[in-house]
Amino acid sequence: MTARLHGLQACVFDAYGTLFDFNSAVAVCDRVPAEKTAKLSDVWRQKQLQYTWLRSLMRQHADFWQVTGEALDYALAATDIADREVRERLMLLYRELAPFPEVRDVLQELRAAGMKTAILSNGTPGMLADVVDAAGIGHLLDHTLSVEEVGVYKPDPRVYQLAVDRLGVPAAQISFQSSNSWDAVGAKAFGCQVVWVNRYGQPRERLGFAPDVELDSLLPLPAMLGLTSEAKG
Ligand code: LAC
Repeated sequence: MTARLHGLQACVFDAYGTLFDFNSAVAVCDRVPAEKTAKLSDVWRQKQLQYTWLRSLMRQHADFWQVTGEALDYALAATDIADREVRERLMLLYRELAPFPEVRDVLQELRAAGMKTAILSNGTPGMLADVVDAAGIGHLLDHTLSVEEVGVYKPDPRVYQLAVDRLGVPAAQISFQSSNSWDAVGAKAFGCQVVWVNRYGQPRERLGFAPDVELDSLLPLPAMLGLTSEAKG
């Protein structure tokens, strides 16, 4: 998976797990007992994703704020945490998740080289506005696109079509970056060029479509696209 991407006009990013660290909410919440943090964060994320897929299949859409809260309720029950204050705090922390350390510089380099940049995420417009503001990266993004515009979750092709429509760029000239392997596969099946940011060292999916490039962070992206003279890191 070392093929270089080509003919790009836009870089579109997944939000949670790709630009923003979803584990950072539990990590900074001191009311969660230390021995429960890993399981709570893991179950919360897994349930959150499962509920998006299930709701799309059931045609029972509810927005990502509701889904995130309901997934957290499940995760708190699974870890025997009854403290309601924890729920309230974690939901607030989800609106100010830490960006991964390289995100700001990478977006800056892409923009400086004339590349269009956007977020395409399951998050609601409000959740995304808050997390983008908290990270101070709003000025580095041309668009922040939410699935709420189409009322269905990734990897439904209507979600990736939203990026094509709103950016006015054909799928084949969009590089889509996601740390979520299934999201990377979804964008590839749709027709984007795809970078899988395999932050967690996972095996590749067996779903019939492979990303064009696999990286372990976003750091090498501008150099890989030929947008900087020197590779960093
Ligand atoms: C998102 C989820 C998939 O941001 O991480 O869309």
